[in-house]
Amino acid sequence: MKKFLKVASIVLVIAMIACFAACGGNTDADTNNGDTTEAPKAVLTMATNAAFPPYEYKEGDAYAGIDIEIAQAIADKLDMTLEIKDVEFGSIIGGVQSGKFDMGIAGMTVTDERLESVNFSTSYATGIQVVIVAEGSDIKSLDDLKGDGSMKFGVQQDTTGDIYASDTIENGGYGEDNVIRYKTGADAVQALKAGKVQAVIIDNEPAKAFVAANEGLAILDGEWTKEDYAIAIAKENTELLTKVNDALAELEDEGKLAEIIDKYIPAE
Ligand code: ARG
Repeated sequence: MKKFLKVASIVLVIAMIACFAACGGNTDADTNNGDTTEAPKAVLTMATNAAFPPYEYKEGDAYAGIDIEIAQAIADKLDMTLEIKDVEFGSIIGGVQSGKFDMGIAGMTVTDERLESVNFSTSYATGIQVVIVAEGSDIKSLDDLKGDGSMKFGVQQDTTGDIYASDTIENGGYGEDNVIRYKTGADAVQALKAGKVQAVIIDNEPAKAFVAANEGLAILDGEWTKEDYAIAIAKENTELLTKVNDALAELEDEGKLAEIIDKYIPAE
């Protein structure tokens, strides 16, 4: 028995030495860039609302999408660690403004109103508001959309779709009373499927993704104004704005931006 214990403890010691060697080897490989005293990378926090495919969505616990990959590519260029915060779309601008998040990347349209609160990077993509209806619906064209109380419009709260739809009829909207606001575009689409709203106003690429993922939905022909998507950054943080714009310009020159977008939006 004693002998067995002795052998066992020798084996244990050898195993521990082997483990130390292996663990040491691993950390060396991770941190050894010729400078072993390197400080951990600074964190770059990105606020988004990850229910907006193909720009941002969740695959299990992981985040995926155009904005996620662009943000990661920017963080890599800045030698920072990207941290993703999945929040309500309407809280992104305020959180960026207050410094809670370094940047907001969420298929976010540049608008005059938002520019009063934050700065925007150069635009990296464009979007268009479109209308999703149930297949076989009486609503066949944009002209059939009425703000007379005969139908309800579903939108994601605080998005440009919400802003347009909720505007007065004189201003080209459908009237606030006829609009139901949901936390995510995905929720608005579920409400459409359940017949709670008769039309959903949302950006074209998420619209295509939702129609592809759900049976019985269709996108109406015709579209509203073209919108520019850009990254929101606090007005005071001009240093980050410059860095992000430089990174975006580099990604564009390298063809990386187009590569990321093509991966998620294959040319038709
Ligand atoms: N482009 C629209 C806007 O800026 C909708 C963006 C919604 N984005 C999202 N990640 N849910 O208002």
